[in-house]
Amino acid sequence: MKRNSLFQMFVSFVSLLLAMMPAIQSSRPHIVFILADDVGWNDFSFHGSDEILTPNIDALAYSGVILNHHYSQPICTPTRSALLTGRYPSNIGMQGWPLSAAEPRALPPGKILPQYLKDLGYTTRIVGKWHLGYYKKELTPTYRGFDSHLGYFNGFTSYYDHITQESASGILMEGLDFRRDLSAAWDLSGRYATDIFTGEAERIIQEHNSSNPLFLYLSHLASHAGNAGKLVEAPQHTINMFHHITEPNRKTYAAMMWKLDESVGRVVRALEAKGMLENSIIVFMSDNGAPSVDVVGYQNWGSNYPLRGLKTTQWEGGVRTPAVIWSPILERRVSSQLIHVTDWLPTLLSAAGGSLQGIVLDGTDQWSALVGKEASPRREALLQYDEVKRTYGLRRDNWKLTNGSNYGGEADGYYGHTGREFSNPPYNVTAVIHSLAGEALASLLSSTTPDEDEILQLRAAATVTCSVKVDAIPCHPVKSSNPCLFDLATDPCETNNLASVYPEVLHEMLDLVSNYEVTLVPQLNKPPDVEGSDPRNFNNTWSPWIVA
Ligand SMILES: *[C@@H]1O[C@H](CO)[C@@H](O)[C@H](O)[C@H]1NC(C)=O
Ligand SMILES: *[C@@H]1O[C@H](CO)[C@@H](O)[C@H](O)[C@H]1NC(C)=O
Ligand SMILES: *[C@@H]1O[C@H](CO)[C@@H](O)[C@H](O)[C@H]1NC(C)=O
Ligand SMILES: *[C@@H]1O[C@H](CO)[C@@H](O)[C@H](O)[C@H]1NC(C)=O
Repeated sequence: MKRNSLFQMFVSFVSLLLAMMPAIQSSRPHIVFILADDVGWNDFSFHGSDEILTPNIDALAYSGVILNHHYSQPICTPTRSALLTGRYPSNIGMQGWPLSAAEPRALPPGKILPQYLKDLGYTTRIVGKWHLGYYKKELTPTYRGFDSHLGYFNGFTSYYDHITQESASGILMEGLDFRRDLSAAWDLSGRYATDIFTGEAERIIQEHNSSNPLFLYLSHLASHAGNAGKLVEAPQHTINMFHHITEPNRKTYAAMMWKLDESVGRVVRALEAKGMLENSIIVFMSDNGAPSVDVVGYQNWGSNYPLRGLKTTQWEGGVRTPAVIWSPILERRVSSQLIHVTDWLPTLLSAAGGSLQGIVLDGTDQWSALVGKEASPRREALLQYDEVKRTYGLRRDNWKLTNGSNYGGEADGYYGHTGREFSNPPYNVTAVIHSLAGEALASLLSSTTPDEDEILQLRAAATVTCSVKVDAIPCHPVKSSNPCLFDLATDPCETNNLASVYPEVLHEMLDLVSNYEVTLVPQLNKPPDVEGSDPRNFNNTWSPWIVA
């Protein structure tokens, strides 16, 4: 063959490839990222509790990968910053206390997850909570990469009236925090937030042109507490289902979880009905542990059992978050792969066929480890670093270093229901298999779903149990103000402080922490702008108040 005709062949091969490009592009997976708010480790039945059945989430978990060593940051704004940037909050100034409603602060400028996905052709939608700043309209979701937003800007709102109250400088401010893009959604007042978000997610999926990839970030209010005086709220008929729970607030919390679980079922079902499920990746996780008791504020009666600590702390109960990923190409299992919330940006971009070149990241691409069932590419995870309070947490292999306390020791214990009592109904595997999600997943030709025996095996493998040692060395971060060290492989509940037993490990861990001080950006928290942000200036709505 002449060189010329070889060249001809090459050209036609390239043009064939180019002709195939739209097909390749449209095969990018749909990504549905469901974020729960302040839901504890033990509030899902797949982690071994019989108190609140979560059949849809369990079905997704057993058919996917249960990420049983998934870590977040201990509180809302830092976790959400990490999720959308792939950066440790302390490397971008977003550590410390979350954004308050009147605070003129936001996630620093720069490209974030939805913008990278837009570059790959995705339609990008956010439903629910933002909590990354809104004092200027240019900081709100539809200016930062999302095509639409139905939801709220602040850390929480009330489940039915959608009013957010905040006290700043001794003044109680309140206003509607619910909108479609930038317009106040007064018409939705009185409707239960979880139902609104679920309906919107279903509508988005039904109306989506499925030849284009969809990124849906469904960021639920559930099960964060609402305003003082009505911290937990759910439809009465759902509350009535939980006869076996006697504590009234926990009963309402169970109903909030039921609605959240139903939402996951309806979303999976909508993807299946639209023919999109086959080519979807679904992630479900909680942003941090539960504020089970009234220490941190916004008590929701969630449970981190058997893990130690609460939301805001770097104890396992604050940062080891329930997480699940499902895709038809992932083999179902309980995984001990170390994974951190900063990993989702590179992992999802990688799954979408994007490039990570030139992106500054603290996160690690976990996609090939997930697909290939390989060990985690990550050995270490920074769980919190607050340079003002000197509180930090670091995991390295099985070691955990923790220092300091946020509430003078008040959040450093063990809280929340065990859900293991005989007074609870026995675990109902039939309800899991026949849940909306269970049936939708089972109807996929390309996947098989686990039977009853396998479900019970997976559930046992996902359950953390702790044996309390009689001669355990306690960790009292307040009394001693020394860092503590735990071996999570044998002591996931942080009962036995090994700092004095393994001083060399302690010092290595402290050295590793000092590396993070080098890159730390001091926290950007600002005092509230009470006058400027006052909802009364904006027809009683929380609205961007500074004109760029
Ligand atoms: C869906 O999107 C594809 C590719 O962008 C386009 O060719 C098609 O016309 C769209 N369908 C509808 C019904 O809009
Ligand atoms: C640990 O935290 C305490 C505050 O609780 C602080 O005084 C101390 O400096 C911290 N220690 C280290 C080694 O960072
Ligand atoms: C288990 O769930 C199924 C399906 O929801 C229901 O029909 C059945 O009554 C439940 N079993 C028990 C013992 O509650
Ligand atoms: C102002 O707020 C009221 C509710 O307090 C609402 O009914 C009305 O539509 C709002 N007006 C505008 C212009 O948004």
